[in-house]
Amino acid sequence: MKRVGFLTSGGDCQGLNAAMRGVALALYGRFPNLEIYGIQKGYQGLIHGNYKKMTKADFDPILNEGGTILGTSRTPFKLIHVPEADGTDKVKAMKANYEKWKLDCLVILGGNGTHKTANLLSREGLNVVTLPKTIDNDIWGTDLTFGFQSAIEVATRSLDELKTTAASHDRIFLVELMGHKTGWLTLYSGIAGGADVILIPEIPYDVSVVAKALKRKREQGRNYFILAVAEGAMSKAEAAMTKRERKQWMRENGSLAPVYRIEPELKEKLEAEVRVTVPGHVQRGGAPCPYDRMLASRLGAAAAALIADGRFGYMVSVKGEEIVPVPLEEVAGKLKKVDPSSSVVEEARGLGICFGDQ
Ligand code: F6P
Repeated sequence: MKRVGFLTSGGDCQGLNAAMRGVALALYGRFPNLEIYGIQKGYQGLIHGNYKKMTKADFDPILNEGGTILGTSRTPFKLIHVPEADGTDKVKAMKANYEKWKLDCLVILGGNGTHKTANLLSREGLNVVTLPKTIDNDIWGTDLTFGFQSAIEVATRSLDELKTTAASHDRIFLVELMGHKTGWLTLYSGIAGGADVILIPEIPYDVSVVAKALKRKREQGRNYFILAVAEGAMSKAEAAMTKRERKQWMRENGSLAPVYRIEPELKEKLEAEVRVTVPGHVQRGGAPCPYDRMLASRLGAAAAALIADGRFGYMVSVKGEEIVPVPLEEVAGKLKKVDPSSSVVEEARGLGICFGDQ
């Protein structure tokens, strides 16, 4: 008998169900008496003892279903040692339920914060295997995360569809894209969507530089512009501040997202109509694209193979064409950022895309 707990934590994304299906199918193939405990709403379910016994039939139809059939929640790592409102010690409770349910291992699907807690549980002696999910593609130790490609498709469609209205009205569109503290999603969808400007946290911008680049394009005959702006993008002045100074500055300036900070400046400098569009959580919604279904399924099967081999304390990760295990110790607490000197940035510059820095 093998008893395995599944848990999805943090913001959802496309491919979570496909990944769980992948783990389940590959485990059912190996262990005929397998029992899967579907832990409800992330670490909250593990803390409070909420689970549902799953059967193979639960997993069969979910390959292309968005969201997560287990539900999810955020349990911030910085509060992991702060007791729950009812006084429950979170770590103790999670260990106790793992023991009580006699689990052989936990399969945890999550992003950066989730991996810090997964690593903590692994250090505490629980058998843990994780899978990298997030539309942000910012998990250290893996070339790709599932959810990322699907989000690129949504974000790219948003950029595409704005072009006709932008052109009809001679307007400039600032499109805010997700990605948290990194620019992967904005960079890739910006290139795919033919953005004129891409602003990402890793390359601080100057609005004057952006305005100059757009003026040049206008002189060459363009009457509209599409700017892909990461939600975490920062101006050069903001980037030069300490985290505390930046927070203070944001508070004083109404905590505006970068698109709204840029809008009035650009309007003035270009004497043009500027509009802001925020696709928001649409980027995380809907069915996973075929690439994510394939990737999530492969990662799921690879996680099952680790469990079968009794190898725990790893995240299954993408390295080139291969899926390989990476120790959780190496993953937890790090962020994978866009390298401003990487070839993808250079190639984008070669296409005439302005990053607002030069
Ligand atoms: O990490 C995924 C993500 O969608 C980020 O891109 C975004 O900053 C954040 O989650 C939004 O979080 P929430 O769903 O809690 O609003």
